[in-house]
Amino acid sequence: MVPPPALPDPLCGPDGLRARDAETWRTHLRAHWLAACTREIYGPMPPAGKVRVEIGAQHGARVALAVAFEPALPPANVALYLPDRPPHAVFFGPNFAGNASIDPDPAIPLDAGWMRPEPAWGIARNRATEATRGVHAQRWPLAEILVRGYAAATWYDGDFCPDDPDLCAAYGQKIGAQTAAIAFWAWSYSRVLEALAQSGLVPADKAIAIGHSRHGKAALWAAACDPRIAGAIANNSGAGGARPFRCIEGERIADLFARFPHWFAPALRDFADRENALAADQHIVLALAAPRPLYVARASDDAWAGPTGELAGLEAARPVYDLDGASDALGTHLRRGGHALTPEDWRHFLAFADRCRRSGKL
Ligand code: GCU
Repeated sequence: MVPPPALPDPLCGPDGLRARDAETWRTHLRAHWLAACTREIYGPMPPAGKVRVEIGAQHGARVALAVAFEPALPPANVALYLPDRPPHAVFFGPNFAGNASIDPDPAIPLDAGWMRPEPAWGIARNRATEATRGVHAQRWPLAEILVRGYAAATWYDGDFCPDDPDLCAAYGQKIGAQTAAIAFWAWSYSRVLEALAQSGLVPADKAIAIGHSRHGKAALWAAACDPRIAGAIANNSGAGGARPFRCIEGERIADLFARFPHWFAPALRDFADRENALAADQHIVLALAAPRPLYVARASDDAWAGPTGELAGLEAARPVYDLDGASDALGTHLRRGGHALTPEDWRHFLAFADRCRRSGKL
């Protein structure tokens, strides 16, 4: 087996400072690492702005929330699903093709926004069509989530930042920040969290950011930046997610920039093929979630994401969790199969959330 690469020690800060307790880490190292990750990897977030929520009528378990922003971006539509009793917690995260793609209920309007061309998802001429309905229903097994007593909230990622270099730049201009897409999507978690809190419908202090793949990358950065987020689940998040760039396995920085030049800070491109020169790396991003619940879901055949490296990232974040005696707030599984978010993954997430509730971590 190839030995895991040496990763920067998350307990060591500038000037040889070494944190031996959680207090020192939080007062001296947290800001240092957060700044390094912003500078080298993600770039700046948009300004926080103001959020205003309008609560629509409830249809079955579903409540539509219209979330408006200042400074002005088009409003985002959040679909919130509520169990038939006060929810234990809420899982919240974006989807790839609009709320109608994860729930075949014909009453859900198709998202009218621009979508990247994915014929398999029924996207035609950059728009969702009737064929988009329910294509990703497997990714959000709502009935099971609700029966277990949890709420779920989701929104189209493109409501915050379309997944396209030019449109992403245009959105950045509107909001007055040179924000890359992963940071935009991370920002969307914080704004939706505020909307959920305003709605009063779910316990906003028990909101778990969940994301699959590119959204897994965003969920981790959201939890790193926003301590109000109670926990994070990164599913098959790979490069720029749970897997440190130094763990050379599957997708690399050069690959990311070749296909998705708008996802990360332009500064990251300079580290292509010299990953070891980064001051930070993705295990540091994971550590920034400490001591909150953090789950890294991996898949055996997901070589592009790199399940071995994803695990290495989680293990390298553990020393920071250990400072709080919070190692039990970390979780992971390796599902057999390829790159996907499946009901089997959710069964693990629900069990993890139950476990964190029992231990008082959630
Ligand atoms: C591509 C990309 C990955 C990303 C994935 C996804 O495969 O290379 O980095 O995680 O898309 O978001 O589905």
